[in-house]
Amino acid sequence: MLRVRNLTCGYGRTPVVCDIDLDIEADQVVAVMGHNGAGKTTLLRAIVGLIPAMNGTIELADDGGTYDNITRRPTNKRIKAGMAYVPQGQQCFAHLTTAENLRLVADGRTRPKARIDAQLDRFPALQPLLGRQAGLLSGGQRQQLAIARALITEPRLLILDEPTEGIQPNVVAEIESTIVDLAAEGGLSVLLVEQHLGFALQAASRFTVLRSGRVASQGDAGAGAAGMVREAMAI
Ligand SMILES: Nc1ncnc2c1ncn2[C@@H]1O[C@H](COP(=O)(O)OP(=O)(O)O)[C@@H](O)[C@H]1O
Ligand SMILES: [Mg+2]
Repeated sequence: MLRVRNLTCGYGRTPVVCDIDLDIEADQVVAVMGHNGAGKTTLLRAIVGLIPAMNGTIELADDGGTYDNITRRPTNKRIKAGMAYVPQGQQCFAHLTTAENLRLVADGRTRPKARIDAQLDRFPALQPLLGRQAGLLSGGQRQQLAIARALITEPRLLILDEPTEGIQPNVVAEIESTIVDLAAEGGLSVLLVEQHLGFALQAASRFTVLRSGRVASQGDAGAGAAGMVREAMAI
């Protein structure tokens, strides 16, 4: 689904993330972990096309499984090709209502109402909040709205940057189970940046640990993975 090779990217001329190799297969959840400042968000931004690659390639499989080199493709074309990105920090249009936030993405696509209804079924907590400004929602509600909005595009690759960060514990469990359910439904790969090791390794089948912008460890999320991740994250 996604194949990243030797990717180096950063800000201005300063590389922040160097020589990253990352593979995500169809229907797979891959967790990226690492301390604050390790370069997780920067890596996601480059994959989505919000910052340019300084070196290396990013390839995305089309519906038929053929890989396209998207390294120089603008973000809107990556979204059209099936990527959806939920940035860190529960970002929504604060002055628009929940319904307007959803309609903004659904309008202009096929079956807009069905797309919104599918997400309201997935996130029933949003139903009574449809008329409320997104800025007045709790962090957990805003995160659910942000994920719902991304899913309205019916992506093949969902990219989530710390979806449970700074969210009240009862909603964390809901968001975690949504991610596990999404993966189980099939037809979707997930690139999940997650600091919470237990959940990351439960949801994902592969993990990558970044340290100072480089891959410190990479492997299967099965037995022994927690030890490898802890070791890779230790300074
Ligand atoms: N817009 C930016 N301009 C310059 N440097 C940045 C910018 N955003 C992040 N950085 C730097 O890049 C490094 C990695 O940051 P980031 O990718 O946000 O890490 P993480 O998501 O793992 O916490 C940090 O040293 C950070 O200060
Ligand atoms: Mg980050």
